[in-house]
Amino acid sequence: MTTPEKGARAGSTLFDRIGLLYTGDPGREEIEQAALVVEDGRVAWTGPAGRAPDADERVDVEGRCVIPGFVDSHAHLVFAGDRTAEFTARMSGERYTAGGIRTTVAATRAASDDLLAERTSRLVAEMLAQGTTTVEIKSGYGLSVDDERRCLRIARGFTEETTYLGAHVVPPDAASADDYVRTVTGEMLRACAPYARWVDVFCERGAFDADQTREILTAGIKAGLRARLHANQLGPGPGAAIAAELGAASADHCTHLSDADVEALSSAGVVATLLPGAEFSTRSPYPDARRLLEAGVTVALATDCNPGSSFTSSMPFCVALAVREMGMTPLEALRAATMGGARALRRTDVGTLRTGARADLVVLEAPSYVHLAYRPGVPLVAQVWQGGRRQA
Ligand code: NIG
Ligand code: FE
Repeated sequence: MTTPEKGARAGSTLFDRIGLLYTGDPGREEIEQAALVVEDGRVAWTGPAGRAPDADERVDVEGRCVIPGFVDSHAHLVFAGDRTAEFTARMSGERYTAGGIRTTVAATRAASDDLLAERTSRLVAEMLAQGTTTVEIKSGYGLSVDDERRCLRIARGFTEETTYLGAHVVPPDAASADDYVRTVTGEMLRACAPYARWVDVFCERGAFDADQTREILTAGIKAGLRARLHANQLGPGPGAAIAAELGAASADHCTHLSDADVEALSSAGVVATLLPGAEFSTRSPYPDARRLLEAGVTVALATDCNPGSSFTSSMPFCVALAVREMGMTPLEALRAATMGGARALRRTDVGTLRTGARADLVVLEAPSYVHLAYRPGVPLVAQVWQGGRRQA
């Protein structure tokens, strides 16, 4: 038996001598001294080392920890420009208001397709190298019919999980907010829907209000998209309740929730996607993960990678923040970064290493996933496999 080369796809591969395997499969979530067999890009078998069936190839994991690839279910990767100055000002006491979105819109509109694709590709590669094997990518920095469509077309080159966020803010060149909402629900939606799976709205004071949010999400759903939204990020508001009312897959941010919001998310089965990179980079209070978990809400963790509020592509960093700043246990944070993200995207084939799942797995340079939080900032991702192929 040999170790396959990078990029090679063997018929079947045995990952042997895994010190700790996190499968994400309830009932046998963690297996010590484990092995895992991949066949045709899927997980074919997991169990104790020494009892594994034969395979064509063998990878000696040498006692390290294996986890599913991270599922980053909220990222804004198609943009140009840089907002370093805004970040510096914030670190000297300025408040984050999302007003900088317009700076990125101007830079994005001015950029060529090639430049946008190249920058997106770099961010996706950064993510992959840090263990992310599924990523959602939103539009939202074009805000014209042509620019939103091309951002989504570019995003589609990298993932099936694309999200139409024409309703990020009202662009400065719109005749009025009402006029822009008409475009977002009409011509822009028709142009973008073929490239998108999801529709999203930034429901926040200064962006879109409750009525506009309902109107935009409903139009998107009618066009065959599924709903998710930016809710309750900068202050209390109607976003989480609307997510529950319209059966959105996920309400994202969830930093300022009332008891009624938490109850509504729980009873409607809406995932709460928490984005601690945004609180870190905007110096804001973190969302209360414990309250959501205690109410039975499924929690996801994602990067929110974007040039304004959270310019990190690192899921390990978000796991570390969730543990240190949001009171999640390392196990809860790992679940949220894998299975939670998959649920937020309504996917059952990723975010888990149960039999039949896509063979997206990460070998950590550590004996346990606890090290993701215990050793923050350390590059612990030793190998990344996607659909059974070695990628990093
Ligand atoms: O999710 N809140 C809205 N959108 C992004 C930030 C966008 C920006 O500042 O460029 C977010 O945090
Ligand atoms: Fe966002």
